[in-house]
Amino acid sequence: MYDLTVLIPTFNEEANIRNIVMAVDAVFHEHSLHGQILVVDDNSSDATISIVHELMMSKENVEILIREKDHGLSQSVADGFSHALSDVFIVIDADFSHPPVLIPRMYEEIRKGNDIIIGSRYMEGGGIKKWPLKRRIISIGATFLGRLLFPDITDPVSGFFAVKKEVVDKAPLKPRGYKILLEVLGKGIWENAKEIPFEFVDREIGSSKLKTGTIIDYARQVADITLYSFSHHNSAAWREWKRVFKFGIVGISGIVINLGILFLLVEFFTMNKDLASPIAIEISILSNFILNDLWTFGSIENKKVAGRWHRLVAFNIVSVGGAAINYGIFLMLTTWFAVYYLAAQLIGIVIAFVWNFLVNRRVTWKRTQ
Ligand code: GDD
Ligand code: MN
Repeated sequence: MYDLTVLIPTFNEEANIRNIVMAVDAVFHEHSLHGQILVVDDNSSDATISIVHELMMSKENVEILIREKDHGLSQSVADGFSHALSDVFIVIDADFSHPPVLIPRMYEEIRKGNDIIIGSRYMEGGGIKKWPLKRRIISIGATFLGRLLFPDITDPVSGFFAVKKEVVDKAPLKPRGYKILLEVLGKGIWENAKEIPFEFVDREIGSSKLKTGTIIDYARQVADITLYSFSHHNSAAWREWKRVFKFGIVGISGIVINLGILFLLVEFFTMNKDLASPIAIEISILSNFILNDLWTFGSIENKKVAGRWHRLVAFNIVSVGGAAINYGIFLMLTTWFAVYYLAAQLIGIVIAFVWNFLVNRRVTWKRTQ
């Protein structure tokens, strides 16, 4: 049994495989880690397999899994999970896009009790070197979609990550395409994920195997994870849905409070209705804030970035923005598209709700590491 297994998926990597295996093994020695190196190869037609066989003669911790069917990066990593001889898996590319020197830190963080450690290109300190604009745009789009499900994670489609065996052991992974991490986040059983910044360096040797068809695969994967979360309430994506529902319930309570206060002020305090309305609005914003702070986002309380007053001000600004969106959509739909006024208002409410949730989740109740 090893301390950890480093999984290296390969397909025609004869130019890199020896160096990456040596580099990972050197890192093991330097940090006195008893690590396994498992190359998961999709039956490469070049010398990759024979080079690994040669390395195996002098290194007993090096292994190769040669796959003959169901070609694919994600499938290979998933196969690697079930063949690894340890309880901690770290996935790394063969082409030195991911720095092997981070392996011991990832392992340490797992030992400290984290379930998943992600090498992030999109957090402070991370980055991407030498990527053409097209790839950057695709990557940003993919990251945006992934963050809808996992807003606390800056790089949910990274190919460089560490995961505990128990996270993926019983997970019904449906690996497809390139984004195995998203599948792990969506189907795995986990509580704590942490990110470590790194700079992605595009390959010097060989060519990338990313194709445009993978974008469609990716959108299907996101949809699949979303559906999965509806029936698996221990999944991380479901935790996010619960927040959406709670946020909605709080919003409805806000409407009741808004109308109730308005009624009270006008009927019992004989206040001018034009003054009473903004007061009622602000009071409902305050009550929404308190309920969301304690209930909807209560579980991330001790990890919030901003202080309470900061959160209150942010929530107020976002709410006013939401009201403006609601009103703007109402005006647009009724004047330009002749939509029935109640329907126009309802559409405005729904869009403002999405705005309020997404922005508040990412700004007001953003979580720190
Ligand atoms: N077994 C197997 N099967 N390995 C593969 C396959 C495959 O079909 N396709 C690629 N690989 C291996 C490569 O040999 C390399 O070690 C690693 O997977 C990454 O492949 P690249 O072709 O170099 O990927 P990339 O640089 O375009 O994409 C990177 O960025 C993505 C994030 O945007 C990779 O790091 C991905 O893992 C990452 O998700
Ligand atoms: Mn690469």
